[in-house]
Amino acid sequence: MNRMNVNVGGKADHSYGIYIGEEILDRVGMILARDGRGRRHVIVTDTRIDALHGERVQAALERMDLRVDRITVPPGEESKGIETVLTVTERLTALGADRQTVLIALGGGVVGDLTGFAASIYLRGIPVIHLPTTLLAQVDSSIGGKTGVDTAAGKNLLGTFNQPKGVFIDIAFLRTLPDEMFRSGLAEVIKYGIIESPGLLDDLEGAVANGGLRETAFLERIIATACRIKKEIVELDERDRGLRRILNFGHTVGHAVEAASGYALSHGESVAIGMVAAARLSERLHGLPAVDVARIAAVIRSVGLPDRIPAEMDLEDILSRLSLDKKKEGGTIHFVMIRKLGTPFVNGGIPEGILRDALKGLKS
Ligand SMILES: NC(=O)c1ccc[n+]([C@@H]2O[C@H](COP(=O)([O-])OP(=O)(O)OC[C@H]3O[C@@H](n4cnc5c(N)ncnc54)[C@H](O)[C@@H]3O)[C@@H](O)[C@H]2O)c1
Ligand SMILES: [Zn+2]
Repeated sequence: MNRMNVNVGGKADHSYGIYIGEEILDRVGMILARDGRGRRHVIVTDTRIDALHGERVQAALERMDLRVDRITVPPGEESKGIETVLTVTERLTALGADRQTVLIALGGGVVGDLTGFAASIYLRGIPVIHLPTTLLAQVDSSIGGKTGVDTAAGKNLLGTFNQPKGVFIDIAFLRTLPDEMFRSGLAEVIKYGIIESPGLLDDLEGAVANGGLRETAFLERIIATACRIKKEIVELDERDRGLRRILNFGHTVGHAVEAASGYALSHGESVAIGMVAAARLSERLHGLPAVDVARIAAVIRSVGLPDRIPAEMDLEDILSRLSLDKKKEGGTIHFVMIRKLGTPFVNGGIPEGILRDALKGLKS
């Protein structure tokens, strides 16, 4: 098992572990029993994950004499609303959950964001730990302490910073993850490779070449690298005031494409297109070598993600969503660019003409 420590705010009591391995539920139970003697644990998950893994997880923890209950919510982004938070907190009250109770978020980013949020407001805050079950949650959303729910006006408009007491990443959960969801998570892994660790891209290229994208040793390696990159950025900028922005590489155009597709494109597919856009803009404006742009697009294609904007999509719609972003950010859209692989920085604004050209060039 791979273990790393996250240290935020420079305070020892804010530090917690990220554990990565395969079939680690028994160890999770032992660690929780050691750290949470006498505490109750409540698993929050969605019904789909519950059907696949809920009982097994609960049983593993109960073997360590922990008292464990389970709350389920419907699967999907629709559950990431304040109504679901209220349902969860009402269930917690009904179960008699007190301030000693620990919530366990068992699921993807939806369950993680929702449970982290509920934990930060129930009785003014109770502990949460993450058991992420999607690749996206294992490399991204379970690390860093951002929680959130959506409102009618937009995604993640309500939320808190709430660091978990631990993150336990069991690669075995990925065995039941559908390919499309798996690919979506790979987009974030490619992102880490581009902004911080070109070695990750070498590793991905190797795995594609030998058909080993789902092999344990490879997964354990790329997840550990991704977690290390994210946690080091979060340690320096927990509250998203500067450095953490580089994690948005590919996300500016990505979010616009995702929304313009009416969410027909997944987050990963949209970010993949956004990363190619950011790479091309980096070439045009900041001298990123053309071979690197080509390499980024090739890696994206090789894992089955799109590197072009679908023909039926309206460029003007995408552009207008980008200018909406601009209003939110106070006048300029912050684009994360790279001068070379592993060297990201935030560009203070890109003229609309150049943006339009770049998007046109990406149309399939
Ligand atoms: N907090 C953060 O820093 C952060 C970062 C990135 C994304 N997010 C959020 O994450 C959310 C997306 O998360 P996601 O992509 O994990 O989606 P998700 O949580 O909706 O999970 C996707 C689907 O996969 C199913 N599933 C989960 N694990 C499974 C498994 N092991 N086997 C089979 N099916 C499984 C779920 O039931 C669900 O239907 C978004 O709401 C986004 O805003 C948060
Ligand atoms: Zn993302």
